[in-house]
Amino acid sequence: MVFSLTLVTAVLTGIFSVHIAQRLFFPYFWKDLFFFLKVMRWGVRLEFYKRTSKIVTVIDRFVQQAQRIPDKAFLIYEGCTYTYREIEERSNRIARALKCHSPVKRGDTVALLMSNEPDFLCVWFGLNKLGCAVAFLNTNIKSRSLLHCFNSCGAKILVVGEDLLDPLKDVLPNLQEDNISVLAMKQEVSYPGVNCLSDKLEQVSCEPMPAELRVPTSIKDTTLYIFTSGTTGLPKAAVVTHLQSLKGSSGFYIYGGTAEDVIYTPLPLYHSAASLIGIGGTIELGATCVLKKKFSASQFWNDCRKYNVTIFQYIGELCRYLCNQPKTENEKNHKVHMAVGNGLRQDIWKEFHSRFGRIRMCELYGSTEGNLCFMNYIGKIGAVGRSSFFYKLLFKYDLVKYDMAKDEPVRNEHGFCQQVDKGEMGLLLCRINSQSPFFGYAGSKQLTEKKLIRDVFKKGDIYFNTGDLMAEDQENFISFKDRVGDTFRWKGENVATTEVAEVLGLLDFIQEVNVYGVEVPGHEGRAGMAAFIIKPDCVFDGKKMFEIVMAHLPAYARPLFIRIQESMEMTGTFKQLKFCLVKSGFNPATISDLLYYLDYTEKCYLPLTDSIYTSIVSGQRKL
Ligand SMILES: *[C@@H]1O[C@H](CO)[C@@H](O)[C@H](O)[C@H]1NC(C)=O
Ligand SMILES: *[C@@H]1O[C@H](CO)[C@@H](O)[C@H](O)[C@H]1NC(C)=O
Repeated sequence: MVFSLTLVTAVLTGIFSVHIAQRLFFPYFWKDLFFFLKVMRWGVRLEFYKRTSKIVTVIDRFVQQAQRIPDKAFLIYEGCTYTYREIEERSNRIARALKCHSPVKRGDTVALLMSNEPDFLCVWFGLNKLGCAVAFLNTNIKSRSLLHCFNSCGAKILVVGEDLLDPLKDVLPNLQEDNISVLAMKQEVSYPGVNCLSDKLEQVSCEPMPAELRVPTSIKDTTLYIFTSGTTGLPKAAVVTHLQSLKGSSGFYIYGGTAEDVIYTPLPLYHSAASLIGIGGTIELGATCVLKKKFSASQFWNDCRKYNVTIFQYIGELCRYLCNQPKTENEKNHKVHMAVGNGLRQDIWKEFHSRFGRIRMCELYGSTEGNLCFMNYIGKIGAVGRSSFFYKLLFKYDLVKYDMAKDEPVRNEHGFCQQVDKGEMGLLLCRINSQSPFFGYAGSKQLTEKKLIRDVFKKGDIYFNTGDLMAEDQENFISFKDRVGDTFRWKGENVATTEVAEVLGLLDFIQEVNVYGVEVPGHEGRAGMAAFIIKPDCVFDGKKMFEIVMAHLPAYARPLFIRIQESMEMTGTFKQLKFCLVKSGFNPATISDLLYYLDYTEKCYLPLTDSIYTSIVSGQRKL
């Protein structure tokens, strides 16, 4: 009796201490394991597809769902609901109309230029059902880039949305010269050489096309091309295979999404976030997607309430815009429990929680063309993802030392890269192998080669260069620090613009800020400058700004010049256009916006006059 009591006590103590040790030293063990098992389950499925060639692609999955849950709402757009069956049948009609009335045939690549609307999906699915690859074109791109896009993905046919034909009229002759047939989603058109598609839909049946047409020969067949915006130069067409498309569609599932979820997608469909993760993920779950033509901060929460939205997709800027909206009483009144996206900054993350409630923000790091992905399934504020013992079994990535001045990784005397220490910032590289393949960009070996880095740790190895500087902390949380190129040097130090922007974000009168470096005659590197918009009903406070900047930034990182703008130009993904600001510098004679400069003697930001400008440029005034 005494013996067994001792034994029980010992066992209990043992279990208790293992439990305590786990809580202390491996606090995330179960979450890591759970996440790993979900990823593994998905991975096993993909592995099966790879080996057997019996692939259930995203479009196959859609067809399955349309048979299983035909009357469930698949899409809600501008107040109208479209069931799985309706989208299935319309995409069948489009496939049939294309087959009968256009030169499209299996194996072709067809370009798609459409805004966010239900027909974007119907044309995309219809083309996939014919065995075609679809190239999503960015609706903001200008004519020259557009022509380049056709060349890079080899598309000979363009399907254009009703609202986008008129803006295209200037390049129609060029398209015809290149023998590109243009099909418009309209009942009638007046441009020569442009054919209509919408008027043909009633003439054809809505019966499915033979499934053999869309059967891929391998999981590595191209199904989409998605253009990634370069900061400079022309867009690049990233090759999206069935493998990547299936990986994208697993995002919500892995984060715990279910068929009951209503997913709000205000991002453009021509990017992978909305198409692969958003639409692909909705299909995978058999859920409902509320598609928005364009993001609107003022309509956002009303939409969420109206449609009982439970998950939304975001990019960091979107959350910032929501926080910039005037406070309302019912802003915590909604059913949203999760948001999936990328680029949420720490300060906005916290503010977002305090304003709109404790929505689980699921950061997802990965590029369209990249071969690795991080997921912050723990919800740690500020992290894009997490590495764990399990994760490292699946993905081979490294953070290596980076030389900012030379803009390249540091190589040691043997010519190899060096891993950074924990907590230190390094360039993220991902090993390319059969487990994590890289499919590159269409039509350009050179562009593909540029994203590769060879002989990293030993002769002959190949890595994908993400161009992103990241850090991994003691607890294995990975945070994004900067994109290479988004840094500048001043006084021999590197300034990360995102970091400065984060500090300026502490000022309550700033709505949006853009930090960059400008050249000053007689100085090496670039002096920090910040352009920003002031919130409505707020005023610029040079004294307060001085205090914040002094308190939170080292001398070299402080913005020396300030430019106050009425509005900021945006690209399709709200990315701020830094390039023009950098070029236009800080000369009050050529810039009509209000300019200020950092004055240490007055302990304030003061108006930058012509005479002060001259004294800086002439070197009289020390910076
Ligand atoms: C377009 O087609 C015509 C006739 O088939 C051909 O002569 C011409 O070379 C083609 N142009 C291009 C740019 O492919
Ligand atoms: C949203 O949920 C409420 C209550 O659960 C329900 O009455 C309403 O019909 C739902 N709205 C939509 C658009 O599904």
